[in-house]
Amino acid sequence: MKGLAGLRVVSFESRFSKTLADLIRLQGGEPLEAPSMKEVPLENNTHVFDFYEKLKAGKIDVLILLTGVGTKTLVEALETRFPRETIFETLRRQTIVPRGPKPIRFLKEWSIPYALTVPEPNTWREILDTFDKNKKKVPLKGRQAAVQEYGVANPALVEGLEARGALVLSVPVYRWTLPDDLGPLRRAIQEILDGRVQVVLFTTAVQAENVLKVAQQLGAAERLKIALKNVVIGSVGPDTSSALKEKGILPDIEPESPKMGPLVMAAADKAKNILTNKNKTECAVELKSDVMDLVAAQDKLDESVFLKACRLEKTSTTPVWLMRQAGRYMKDYRDIREKTPFLDICKNKELVAEITVTAQQKIGADAAIIFSDILLIVECFGLGLEYLKGDGPSITRPVRTAQDIERLPEADTRSGLKFVSDAIRLTRRLLKADIPLIGFAGAPFTVASYMIEGGSAVNFEKTMALMKQNEKLWHRLLEKIASATIPYLRAQMDAGVQAIQLFDSWVGKLAAEDYERYCLPHSRRIFEALENRVPTIHFGTGANHLLKLMAQAGAAVIGVDHSTGLNDAWSVIGHDKAIQGNLDPKILLTDPDTIRKAAKKILAEVSGRPGHIFNLGHGVLPDTPVENVIALIQTVHDESIAVDS
Ligand code: CP3
Repeated sequence: MKGLAGLRVVSFESRFSKTLADLIRLQGGEPLEAPSMKEVPLENNTHVFDFYEKLKAGKIDVLILLTGVGTKTLVEALETRFPRETIFETLRRQTIVPRGPKPIRFLKEWSIPYALTVPEPNTWREILDTFDKNKKKVPLKGRQAAVQEYGVANPALVEGLEARGALVLSVPVYRWTLPDDLGPLRRAIQEILDGRVQVVLFTTAVQAENVLKVAQQLGAAERLKIALKNVVIGSVGPDTSSALKEKGILPDIEPESPKMGPLVMAAADKAKNILTNKNKTECAVELKSDVMDLVAAQDKLDESVFLKACRLEKTSTTPVWLMRQAGRYMKDYRDIREKTPFLDICKNKELVAEITVTAQQKIGADAAIIFSDILLIVECFGLGLEYLKGDGPSITRPVRTAQDIERLPEADTRSGLKFVSDAIRLTRRLLKADIPLIGFAGAPFTVASYMIEGGSAVNFEKTMALMKQNEKLWHRLLEKIASATIPYLRAQMDAGVQAIQLFDSWVGKLAAEDYERYCLPHSRRIFEALENRVPTIHFGTGANHLLKLMAQAGAAVIGVDHSTGLNDAWSVIGHDKAIQGNLDPKILLTDPDTIRKAAKKILAEVSGRPGHIFNLGHGVLPDTPVENVIALIQTVHDESIAVDS
């Protein structure tokens, strides 16, 4: 009798998925292939190249290497453009601080000296202690530090370095991300949760993280860990096993030689015994759950016209939603607003959910955007935020001087903006199952402009002055904003949004070269950190001249305003990206006939090309009649041009 006969075996292997499935079949098992990673070409590691330019120019004072794999990958990425010896020569001139034995092994192999040794257990605490003890040898105050990250960022370390006066450049190195098609992985997770899988095989360390990430999107990470206790867990080798243990998953099997063949043999040999024991000792946890529904709901959302368009897939009708679709133009909102100040509304999940869902349903939009504001993050920096009736937002203590910026605390958005995640969870439950929910944040430039100007601005004089007069300080401010925005957006994804929009509303004020130099790296850092977990939208106004650069920041969808034709914009950003736009919001102040004509003109221009999300060029204006908005949405749905290809 073959060892895996009658057993269903999940494999998370990607590249050699077929091979592993064949091996499982040879042992009589039924393989469930659930690829869980996608390779990122090394030459796409833009952060690495930006960092290397700075390194060569002598702009990095100290380089901290966090991991062995990351160090190796960093050099391999650079090798796609530069000769190995040149890279080593450049590195030999640097002050390098490796975190522990793994990066040290590579440095020794490459004959690259390093400045300090960090004692065990080599966590961020020991790294900071080491710097504290070696202030003379490797000072941090006022110095530019670069931190190589692999897989996950290390915010505690970055914070600590910044607290010691260093400027920190994070250099994330990527080799793997989630696969484009998450369907098989989600189905495998569902089967595990339903108790219909007996063995799972992990063949690299990254898989542990990715599988849990996808489970988390389904709201089932904790339940998955429980369900896995009833399953035989095979791990290909020690690195994979320690990654699993770190996540609270205990491997049952690890072959002597870390290869797929021996892993399957070991599973065939031991799985049945282990299963018998597990069933005796851990008595099956109650697994009948609502996960089936969660997965079905996720499939439904994935098939929504909005998300399909984000993925450039054909849709039956053109999806449409409107920026500021929930707001003052709607009586329902004004009634609530009459009694409650704006900020209080934002912090009340029931009100937020009600406003978000009502607006989407009333106008029939194909997506909802969580009711909130891009400036709430400013409160986490302790700057004081008010919304004065009629005057727009006001920041009580704007940042203007070096001291103001140095003094900005690390913004803890995970707890400071927890109310947004709470509201997202509730809204997700109340929205119809096939309506995606969009989360959002302001882009670093636009948020910085409010922080500096103290409120809405016309010419952005103070912002421009800081940018041009003190570049280091400018980058430090934008880095702080980006560092706060990343965990904020991750929290929104964890809470259940299906897409993220980054509003860079006023970025069009900048010349292209200024945008590229002062803003693009920070926005790009945010998109990269989101790792394509959900589709991303990048929006700015008056930004025709920036579209090409904005597209480089990494969003899947580019939002354009009404000052450009969609096809022109598209040819600049490239047809591998979806586009969102672009009816002039002033048209909505006219009448249904005029609106229909204008909407049809845009639909005709796009003429059914997949990847168009209909929207306004900017937000709905407060004086807009609701009937006009409804007429617009209706027209887009009725007049959509479906193209058979
Ligand atoms: O449906 C939705 O889009 C609602 C959620 C939402 C709001 N603000 C609610 C809001 C979103 C996505 C925003 C984004 C936002 N906020 C941007 C980017 C989009 C854009 O319009 O460019 C910007 C620049 C802000 C900053 C902001 N917040 C301003 C300039 C103002 C005052 C002027 C205005 O448009 O109302 C706000 C306040 C604000 N944000 C209100 C609402 C409903 C009005 C508050 C009130 O009722 O007094």
